Amino acid sequence: MTSVEALLNETLPDILKKHAAFDEQRNPVLAQIKHKPVMTRNVARVLGQYSLLPATIVEFLKIGETRLIEWQTVREELQRNIGEELGSRTHGQTHYEILNTSANRELGLLLSDAVPTPGTIQFLNQIRQGLLVQPHSYAAGILFALEASAVPELTVVAHVINKYAELIGSVENPITLSEEDWKNAAGSPGTTSQYTLNGFFAAHLFDFEIGHKDRLAETLEEYIRTSHEMAGLQKGFESVLCIMDRWWENLAAELCGDDRSLVTCVPTWVTNPLSGNFMMEPEASR
Ligand SMILES: [Fe+2]
Ligand SMILES: [Fe+2]
Repeated sequence: MTSVEALLNETLPDILKKHAAFDEQRNPVLAQIKHKPVMTRNVARVLGQYSLLPATIVEFLKIGETRLIEWQTVREELQRNIGEELGSRTHGQTHYEILNTSANRELGLLLSDAVPTPGTIQFLNQIRQGLLVQPHSYAAGILFALEASAVPELTVVAHVINKYAELIGSVENPITLSEEDWKNAAGSPGTTSQYTLNGFFAAHLFDFEIGHKDRLAETLEEYIRTSHEMAGLQKGFESVLCIMDRWWENLAAELCGDDRSLVTCVPTWVTNPLSGNFMMEPEASR
């Protein structure tokens, strides 16, 4: 295994596991839901805020595609990924549309009405800004983090949706998190065009997001060569994990009806002068 392969397939996934946002035991929203009484409308609010990430993912991928235009195989993979998000394997329905429609049909949740809170605006802007202005390797690290974090993040979101279903009186969990279910899910051959929440999550957890992460890693291996590029990739990757940790902390505050305390992001390497200079670092704390 080359050092770039080891970085993409071992080091970065190991770093991801240390971040609370992607850990079912430590995610701040799941911790609140498990240990404290929560109001149904606040759980709906958190899900509405989360939905703004799938609402924005195609924009992020398109920025990446433009920034990495000279990295041909990466660009092709990003185009394939964008195609899937826009419905290439789901009867022309975008993934965002499927999420909205199934959440509305099964749970009466109107996700598309969500207005971003300051915490969500900060989260989306920091990612957008990093993709637009940082060096290529750093932008690639941001894209890889978005894909590599998708499975643990969707798992967390599935638990939040199941909690919402419980709060409105549903006896069964709408999302089973079972690999068996993906065979009948969005994207499987022969399925109808009416997708369930369970199908949406199964298809993402066991198919779409695995492909996005693995294929992006494979294509990036060709273009990330020097130690400086590897450091840039890692920093872009870590910046997203840090930004996501803060976002979930802000979402947890919203769950308690408290959105006064906006937590901002300071990745550990920002304070380390030996970590190398990049054009721009994620916004520092107030
Ligand atoms: Fe998707
Ligand atoms: Fe993805």
